[in-house]
Amino acid sequence: MKRVAAFIGTGRHGHTHDAVGRFLAHLESFGDVESEIVRLSDYRLEPCIGCKQCFLRGEALCPLKDDRDTLIAKMEAAEGVVLASPSYLFQVSGTMKTFLDRLSFFGHRPRFFGKTFTSIVTQGLPFDAKIGKYLNLVGSCFGYKTVAGSRITALDPMTEKEEQAVDDRLQRHAARFHKSLAEKELPAPSLVLLAGFRIGRTTMSLEQDEESYDYRYYLEKGWLHSDYLYPVRLGPAKKALGAFLDAVGRRMARKR
Ligand SMILES: Cc1cc2nc3c(=O)[nH]c(=O)nc-3n(C[C@H](O)[C@H](O)[C@H](O)COP(=O)(O)O)c2cc1C
Repeated sequence: MKRVAAFIGTGRHGHTHDAVGRFLAHLESFGDVESEIVRLSDYRLEPCIGCKQCFLRGEALCPLKDDRDTLIAKMEAAEGVVLASPSYLFQVSGTMKTFLDRLSFFGHRPRFFGKTFTSIVTQGLPFDAKIGKYLNLVGSCFGYKTVAGSRITALDPMTEKEEQAVDDRLQRHAARFHKSLAEKELPAPSLVLLAGFRIGRTTMSLEQDEESYDYRYYLEKGWLHSDYLYPVRLGPAKKALGAFLDAVGRRMARKR
């Protein structure tokens, strides 16, 4: 059985809950998935205070004592993760953003390699795809394989025809997600992810030292000299680009 955890950024049993429920029902119909709905509003989560202790000294030293680690344990136990949020003023809900802020250190020290991520966004307006793109960027930065999410336009009341169209979309989405859950091979990085890794680690290797938790983590993982975050075959073009990006990182560090 593969475990999937869906984190929902609203306590309202509205369109977002409905879409997640439909998505998970389609996913479970494959027969090899068990899922859990995690309503973030059922947990105590303090807003990040920006002290950077998680970056510099490790996430265990976060001064906020709340349910963050319970939620992280759910992410770690799952092979697949869904982040679902309504759009509130063109962004994820504050509840979802508070959760993500508290996970920022995963962006510095990604770890969910080989696991699958996707998003479900509900909104009133039919245009505007940026929340889904934002969530997928977050998933990629945390190390997940990302599957394009669903953007649900949920105008009240929804007609039967609209509800059917949403359900069909979520069924196709669940099939894409299920396929990714089964894939064993780690994907080659996109140019953006390769650039983020190579420039980031090169500047860090020159600007930080063993005082920093991030630095020690990279050292331990062998990331200060590796091609990427995990063993993956880079073609000649990406190899050459990687070397160039390291040079860009060195230059950036020298200029500061
Ligand atoms: C405070 C608030 C802000 C909203 N802002 C937007 C917005 O910027 N863009 C949009 O398309 N819909 C916006 N909406 C509509 C919701 O995203 C939409 O109704 C969504 O389906 C609500 O999800 P729910 O039924 O799970 O609560 C907003 C709704 C609320 C309550």
